[in-house]
Amino acid sequence: MLKLSQMAAAMTLVFAGAAAMAGEVEVLHYWTSGGEAKSVAELKKIMESKGHVWKDFAVAGGGGDNAATVLKSRVVSGNPPAAAQIKGPAIQEWASEGVLANIDGVAKEEKWDSLLPKVVADVMKYKGNYVAVPVNVHRVNWLWANAAVLKKAGVAGMPKTWDEFFAAADKVKKAGLIPVAHGGQNWQDFTTFESVVLGVGGAKFYNDAFVKLDQKALTSDTMKKSLETFRKVKTYIDPAAPGRDWNLATAMVIQGKAAFQFMGDWAKGEFVAAGKAPGKDFLCAAAPGSANAFTFNVDSFAMFKLKDAGAQKAQADLAAAIMGTEFQEVFNLNKGSIPVRLNMNMAKFDDCAKLSAKDFVDTAKTGGLVPSIAHGMAVAPAVEGGIKDAVSQFWNDDKISVADAQKNIAAAAKAK
Ligand code: BGC
Repeated sequence: MLKLSQMAAAMTLVFAGAAAMAGEVEVLHYWTSGGEAKSVAELKKIMESKGHVWKDFAVAGGGGDNAATVLKSRVVSGNPPAAAQIKGPAIQEWASEGVLANIDGVAKEEKWDSLLPKVVADVMKYKGNYVAVPVNVHRVNWLWANAAVLKKAGVAGMPKTWDEFFAAADKVKKAGLIPVAHGGQNWQDFTTFESVVLGVGGAKFYNDAFVKLDQKALTSDTMKKSLETFRKVKTYIDPAAPGRDWNLATAMVIQGKAAFQFMGDWAKGEFVAAGKAPGKDFLCAAAPGSANAFTFNVDSFAMFKLKDAGAQKAQADLAAAIMGTEFQEVFNLNKGSIPVRLNMNMAKFDDCAKLSAKDFVDTAKTGGLVPSIAHGMAVAPAVEGGIKDAVSQFWNDDKISVADAQKNIAAAAKAK
């Protein structure tokens, strides 16, 4: 038997060994709402179980605009975090600055090329090398509803067309409740607008307008109709929307103060965190007119170049953990999204997630799968910002005509 002193010496060796292997991993993200915080806590748990130290760098602000600003100042001052929540074309922009790490080592070892849809893998690579790791697939074109509110207002089911939607909204208004829960940030306006454009114009039109930035599409009658429909949606929100966070708008639906919300499926994370059941307490459906389309929004972490060997090891472990089956399941169950890793078992996921997974695969075959412009997947950040501003000015100022809004959006798209 070991004496106590020998045991203590042995323990010291074990801990010293662990410390040499372990490293600190600083992760910049903007997941601060109830559902989001629960989701990211799962990643922290996995990293700590591997002996690493998790340094949380949370910057509040849905959609990530605040986080992007903070990240810039950290990188400029030569002190980047190990990983930052960046997605879409912004990954390429950061990589072209020479600040991202090549993580092909872990990607090859874990066989990411065979575990990811090619459209996703391509976004994670710069000049053929992985520089980022994808977390999930969020669908943006969702409409959420409180089942009891619909019942009370006499709305039979989720509206499938815009006409049905406005008829349902009128009934909710008559019942004395708020038809549409909305917040007051430009990315929330843009989230609703891209769903309107998708529902009014279809996936091909959306792609021409918001991915190809085709001037003909942007100045077309279909875009005019989209702006008119968008302005009509606004007549169903409450006057206290300005400045409201997206999760507080979701809370209005959860609490039965409002009937509907247009939001990506991170909203489901809020319903679930509040103990609500899909299909019973709350309902999900593709936004009106968009059942055959899917605006995708893939959250991902870009990895920054680090000097310290322990930190590099922790960074590689983080990348491997994110693509691992354990994380992909537990994180996405909490987050409202679906796993980005292919061939995952979906048994534990609810019907909204199962519909999302099915539609993701189906729309990829028909051309209905399109990148979300409001969530940084479609165009370079500067162009996105310009269009987003034009859309929000129109939303916030009823004096701006549809024709002028259309001109402003088209002009912003030219800044590419
Ligand atoms: C992100 C989600 C996040 C949401 C609200 C989206 O752009 O992709 O992960 O939950 O913004 O912050």
